[in-house]
Amino acid sequence: MLRVSRTGEYPAVRALSLSEKKRIVVTGGAGFVGSHLVDRMMLLGHQVICIDNFFTGNQTNLAHWLGHPHFEFVRHDVVNPLFIECDRIYHLACPASPVHYQYNPIKTIKTSFLGTMNMLGLAKRVKARFLLSSTSEVYGDPEQHPQRETYWGNVNPIGPRACYDEGKRVAETLTYSYAQKDGVDVRVARIFNTFGPRMHPGDGRVVSNFLMQALRGENLTIYGDGKATRSFQYVHDLVDGLIALMEGDYSAPVNIGNSEEFEIEEFAEMVRDVAGSSSQIINLPAVTDDPQKRKPDTTVAREKLGWQPKWTVKSGVSELSDYYKMLLLRGDILA
Ligand SMILES: NC(=O)c1ccc[n+]([C@@H]2O[C@H](COP(=O)([O-])OP(=O)(O)OC[C@H]3O[C@@H](n4cnc5c(N)ncnc54)[C@H](O)[C@@H]3O)[C@@H](O)[C@H]2O)c1
Repeated sequence: MLRVSRTGEYPAVRALSLSEKKRIVVTGGAGFVGSHLVDRMMLLGHQVICIDNFFTGNQTNLAHWLGHPHFEFVRHDVVNPLFIECDRIYHLACPASPVHYQYNPIKTIKTSFLGTMNMLGLAKRVKARFLLSSTSEVYGDPEQHPQRETYWGNVNPIGPRACYDEGKRVAETLTYSYAQKDGVDVRVARIFNTFGPRMHPGDGRVVSNFLMQALRGENLTIYGDGKATRSFQYVHDLVDGLIALMEGDYSAPVNIGNSEEFEIEEFAEMVRDVAGSSSQIINLPAVTDDPQKRKPDTTVAREKLGWQPKWTVKSGVSELSDYYKMLLLRGDILA
């Protein structure tokens, strides 16, 4: 993972000719996934403009690029329009973990709807290609397993997750409406559970929860009987998939995720082992509307983008474990 070097030097970036160099906007670029995408775009030699309001993101995730001549940070809330010249828009701005998106559900829906509308308006004006980071949550509590892109989903429109799930569904609708009516060149990635360094340790998601509990020597808490299944992809695989989708010519929605499936209980045991912890694993009551099964069918990504995950879940968990250990050691988070 890139971070500020002791000598204050920037990571080396590729030299591109003017015709190869693109102006890349990454909304949500100070967040977990966005900051890794910014890293990759910078290393590839592009001009990167990061747009973020710091709701869940932070400057530390980008500190190694601040002041670089190819990098620009704009503190901006995407619910407001933005006028900027660019060639590509990766639209990631939106809180992704339940604890954050449920904090203010109205704001979450506004971010999904108005934010996506504003970024599509920008794409239309400057003729930029637009990629929406949608989610597997559009499938809700799926009746189809694994989920293919043709599945329409089973979402509770008034449940506690609706602000996020329905927000992303309407964002997809908007995206394809701009494509059909105004000819905007669009891509939609349906992202499945992703983890890796810079993931907020307190965001309440399964991987961060288990790892932090294991590293602190606390009980690992499973909500429900532990038989629900999840799949987890490492963040570098996701970044590969987003770039392949953006730069390819396939414009229908594409699942990007790792189809290796774990029962939650089995996953908790693996995390505990990787962290070298002897914590207990305990069960608590299940959470409302928490889907029982979630696993992507990634045939489309494989066939249309030539993409498939390269990282094993275990090696990714080990990297994240090292990252959290570093935060604990530095006192950035409480031990
Ligand atoms: N991480 C996952 O497992 C996952 C899964 C499916 C989809 N996604 C999608 O990927 C994207 C990034 O997720 P993440 O995990 O990096 O989340 P994150 O919370 O770490 O990052 C989101 C970023 O968006 C910014 N943001 C939020 N609202 C904003 C607004 N109104 N204006 C400007 N910036 C705003 C936040 O400050 C943050 O930097 C999101 O769109 C999310 O829905 C993520």
